[in-house]
Amino acid sequence: MFDLTGKIALVTGAMRGMGKADAIALATQGATVVVTDIDLRACEEVVKEIEAAGGKAVAFALNVTDKKQIDQVFDAVIRQFKKLDILVNNAGIFRPKPTLDLTEEEWQQTIDVNLKGYFLCAQRAAKEMTKQKKGRIINISSIACGQVGVGFMGSAHYSATKGGVIGMTETMALEWGTLGITVNAIGPGAIDTPMVAMIKGDPASMKAITDRVPMKRMGKPEEIAAAVVFLASDEASYITGATLFVDGGYLAT
Ligand SMILES: NC(=O)c1ccc[n+]([C@@H]2O[C@H](COP(=O)([O-])OP(=O)(O)OC[C@H]3O[C@@H](n4cnc5c(N)ncnc54)[C@H](O)[C@@H]3O)[C@@H](O)[C@H]2O)c1
Repeated sequence: MFDLTGKIALVTGAMRGMGKADAIALATQGATVVVTDIDLRACEEVVKEIEAAGGKAVAFALNVTDKKQIDQVFDAVIRQFKKLDILVNNAGIFRPKPTLDLTEEEWQQTIDVNLKGYFLCAQRAAKEMTKQKKGRIINISSIACGQVGVGFMGSAHYSATKGGVIGMTETMALEWGTLGITVNAIGPGAIDTPMVAMIKGDPASMKAITDRVPMKRMGKPEEIAAAVVFLASDEASYITGATLFVDGGYLAT
């Protein structure tokens, strides 16, 4: 089960954190992984790590807010591999700030990376996937998505994007269901990555978060990657339009 041999998978924001864990997990299951992020060198390091473990991967610089760059990278992937089977929309920014202080530029920047970037990559991926009538798109949302009765201070812009990702996922699943493409979201809880370094550095914030989690700990990037592998696999063939929360029980409290 969960064999991805022969599949081509592209992961955005894959130079560190969850994206890196996703890339490694997909490669471990046999996929050839296109590791993309804003820093090519860092992507190449991830490729080296994958290759050292016997996997296959290539690196590309890709800023997901730039449509021209998205087209260039997808064109190169199709030239090299002739197809794309799996897209993991993972690249994201989380820059918490009280709503009263949030500037228009800060609002827009978060929307551009976390929402527009997902749309552009998913749309281009789907155009390739329709050619083989098969594909998997996995959009990383969050428990901070505003639809589960839990709000997060300083997250107006971030939550707007993560809720938007779920709405977008459902619509894409409807529109692309007959094209053989499944589109699902994953809603991570608090996961130990560089994104939440400021929370880890503040014992009070850390305690507030882990106290709320029934498992009393943050999640590991690999625990999200396992869900990505599942949704990317043939075994998840009848799952589309869903959001899978992987949060150590946070939303159950
Ligand atoms: N860590 C958490 O607790 C948590 C919880 C829920 C959801 N998420 C989401 O998970 C995803 C991965 O986050 P992470 O925790 O691994 O954070 P991270 O900061 O470690 O990784 C995010 C990656 O996105 C990349 N990125 C940022 N802007 C980009 C752009 N314009 N183009 C391409 N890449 C860009 C960064 O360079 C970075 O490598 C994000 O979408 C995040 O919102 C994280």
